[in-house]
Amino acid sequence: MAIAVAVLACNRRALNVFLDVPEPESGPEATLDPALADASLPQAVADTLRPDIESVADPDSVIAILPKDNAGNIDWVTALRAGVIRPRAAPPGQEPKPSTEGFGFDFVYQAETATFDTYFPHSTHVEWLGCESCHPAIFPYRNAAITMQAINGGEACGECHGPVAFSAATCERCHRNMELPAGRMSPALIGDIVFERSANMGFDLPPARFSHWSHRIRYQCKACHPSSFEMESGANVVTMAMISEGESCGACHNGTDAFSSGFGECNRCHAPEPTASPGE
Ligand code: HEC
Ligand code: HEC
Ligand code: HEC
Ligand code: HEC
Ligand code: HEC
Ligand code: HEC
Repeated sequence: MAIAVAVLACNRRALNVFLDVPEPESGPEATLDPALADASLPQAVADTLRPDIESVADPDSVIAILPKDNAGNIDWVTALRAGVIRPRAAPPGQEPKPSTEGFGFDFVYQAETATFDTYFPHSTHVEWLGCESCHPAIFPYRNAAITMQAINGGEACGECHGPVAFSAATCERCHRNMELPAGRMSPALIGDIVFERSANMGFDLPPARFSHWSHRIRYQCKACHPSSFEMESGANVVTMAMISEGESCGACHNGTDAFSSGFGECNRCHAPEPTASPGE
């Protein structure tokens, strides 16, 4: 424990130097709990070692393979730790951003009653997400004021928890002292995006669809966010011309790293039905 504290202190000092983070002020602040830090998470694994799940295309089979949490939702964190998925850190041909090692600190926000103490594992999040997805877009480094009302309204933690990550209904994953019945939800592959922003220019095609599950199995969030896509539905301009030129979806959908956007492939994206099962 003493060692963990020392390492943590060192990290925080390093952070202050590198990121110009102000020293903590007095007043309400997140407490760092070294006992909750998990140093055993795997680093991004070599591109060559691909897990079996990547060869499974049927959503129900994918759901069956992925581990579940207490509530019954898909547990993507356990999937990562157990090596069921090994999402790459960068799009094909690009270097991953420098390692996030050293940011393995976790927070506990203390509530008036311990039941509602909130666990925020910073460590788990930087396994997939780039810093700029949260700082400063969603959270300041210190003294973030977060409420359940904001989360339920799709802000703060709710920017991801609900649309793409487990929803606010799964209280016990953030409020770890809460005891709720196990297996009360059905696992669902959430995060389908329907592109309905451009006119189809005379082509009789359904709107293009993008499912998060099929991509997060293979790529970390930071391979796409925010460099290629703003993390907001409807915020990005995508055209077929961009895709053909290797931009946007075309960074991967080039016929080598993923199916191409040429004739014969159109309906793989312009599909009439969502590919994922509906969210809760
Ligand atoms: C999922 C969102 C998210 C991501 C991604 C994220 N952070 Fe944070 N970070 C937070 C939150 C929330 C806090 C706590 C803010 C508060 O309540 O005061 C925090 C706090 C911090 C702090 C202050 C720690 C202290 O000593 O009090 C630093 C420094 C920090 N983050 C750096 C980073 C860096 C560097 C990265 C990328 C490697 C990163 N964060 C990625 C959400 C995130
Ligand atoms: C930028 C997106 C994003 C934001 C913002 C975010 N999370 Fe997460 N979080 C994720 C993803 C992705 C996972 C992986 C689980 C999943 O997808 O269902 C996750 C997992 C978790 C886990 C499970 C960790 C584990 O070890 O099992 C907890 C707890 C959690 N988040 C709490 C929070 C809290 C509290 C906040 C706000 C302070 C927050 N998250 C903000 C994306 C986000
Ligand atoms: C994604 C993580 C997450 C989930 C899931 C979640 N909460 Fe919260 N909750 C938070 C955060 C973050 C806070 C603010 C912590 C702080 O600043 O003290 C909070 C605060 C609270 C508070 C304190 C009062 C308030 O409104 O701010 C209560 C009560 C609460 N949550 C109940 C629940 C219940 C009940 C559920 C399930 C229906 C739930 N929460 C699900 C993250 C979560
Ligand atoms: C292969 C690229 C890719 C990956 C990987 C990816 N996303 Fe996305 N994400 C997108 C696209 C494309 C959109 C839709 C943008 C638009 O509509 O303009 C999106 C939208 C979102 C949104 C907004 C959803 C909404 O309903 O408003 C969130 C939140 C998000 N992503 C979070 C994540 C998280 C968290 C991860 C990692 C677990 C992740 N994304 C992984 C491409 C990706
Ligand atoms: C990799 C996925 C993907 C494939 C494959 C694909 N498209 Fe698209 N297409 C998109 C996306 C995403 C958009 C943007 C839609 C929007 O923003 O509303 C789009 C937009 C379009 C548009 C609107 C105008 C424009 O040029 O952007 C047309 C027409 C279109 N696609 C036709 C096709 C045809 C024909 C094919 C097969 C030759 C095809 N698409 C294959 C993803 C794809
Ligand atoms: C970082 C790389 C990457 C980006 C960016 C990307 N994809 Fe994919 N996508 C893949 C890979 C890899 C597969 C799986 C391999 C295959 O099917 O060829 C896939 C599979 C798919 C599938 C079939 C699986 C399913 O969900 O039904 C669709 C549809 C799809 N992508 C649409 C899109 C659209 C639309 C965009 C842009 C908004 C996009 N992708 C951006 C890499 C990417």
